[in-house]
Amino acid sequence: MQIVTKDLEYVYQKGTPFEKRALFHINVTIPSHSYTAVIGHTGSGKSTLLQHLNGLLQPTGGEIRIGDLTVTSEKKGKGLKGIRQKVGIVFQFPEHQLFEETVEKDICFGPMNFGATEEEARQQAKTALKLVGLSEELLNKSPFDLSGGQMRRVAIAGVLAMNPDILVLDEPTAGLDPRGRTEIMEMFYQLYQEKGISIVLVTHSMEEASKYADSIIIMHKGTVYKKGTPKEIFSSPAELIDLGLDVPESVRFQLKLEDKIGKEIAEPSLSIDELVENIFAYIKRVNEK
Ligand SMILES: Nc1ncnc2c1ncn2[C@@H]1O[C@H](COP(=O)(O)OP(=O)(O)OP(=O)(O)O)[C@@H](O)[C@H]1O
Ligand SMILES: [Mg+2]
Repeated sequence: MQIVTKDLEYVYQKGTPFEKRALFHINVTIPSHSYTAVIGHTGSGKSTLLQHLNGLLQPTGGEIRIGDLTVTSEKKGKGLKGIRQKVGIVFQFPEHQLFEETVEKDICFGPMNFGATEEEARQQAKTALKLVGLSEELLNKSPFDLSGGQMRRVAIAGVLAMNPDILVLDEPTAGLDPRGRTEIMEMFYQLYQEKGISIVLVTHSMEEASKYADSIIIMHKGTVYKKGTPKEIFSSPAELIDLGLDVPESVRFQLKLEDKIGKEIAEPSLSIDELVENIFAYIKRVNEK
């Protein structure tokens, strides 16, 4: 399933003295089976854009096409409920939305809301819990007796239990420890590779964006500043730094090294492994001269 926005605009509290324009003329395409990272400063409109992807927010101008459904400022389009099942959103700090007495009931809530029987929902809950790396023993516990990291995983399982085609993730690893971050990011990547799910990830981590995404969108003051592959985006690191954004550590290291030796050694390296290869090749070239 593909999502396309056409001159999408969004104004919060339109027509009131508190009116706030958060998105201006956004034109982006999220192709089927793609991994898109959305980066940008705080307040640049990332979360506002994300909430349009499953029709939670209705544009105040322009349109968004989600599969066969078109949502404009005038019409929400038929079939919005189906879209909410196909496009699952994991919000910032999703554990704040846990509310049932048990983990199982919490995960089953979504599937049952979309018409699954209790038996089907329970089965989906088990599968989803396994996907997020938690043991079945937790099913009968209260979500509020879990650790922060476990609560986060339960909340994510609740979205996965609906079998979405597209998974929209708003800083899903914020506040987790480094190991938890890696585990969860690897889990999403596996879903993308093995189940053909599309991922849209908002992240402040340039490492995550360069490692996992096949395309990156930079948001800036409610507009799309730039979009491209990680190579394209990080090939002009100075521009990103000017925008107040970070670049992957491997790129930063390479820039400093190049500055020191006064020569460019390679295209920007998007990972430590790539950096090592590029430096190795450079040393070899120098030694052969
Ligand atoms: N409910 C709201 N009412 C009014 N203005 C809002 C509301 N939510 C967000 N805004 C404003 O819209 C703009 C975009 O906010 P948004 O939350 O989309 O940014 P963001 O890129 O997700 O930021 P962050 O990285 O901090 O999560 C900001 O100027 C914000 O103040
Ligand atoms: Mg946000």
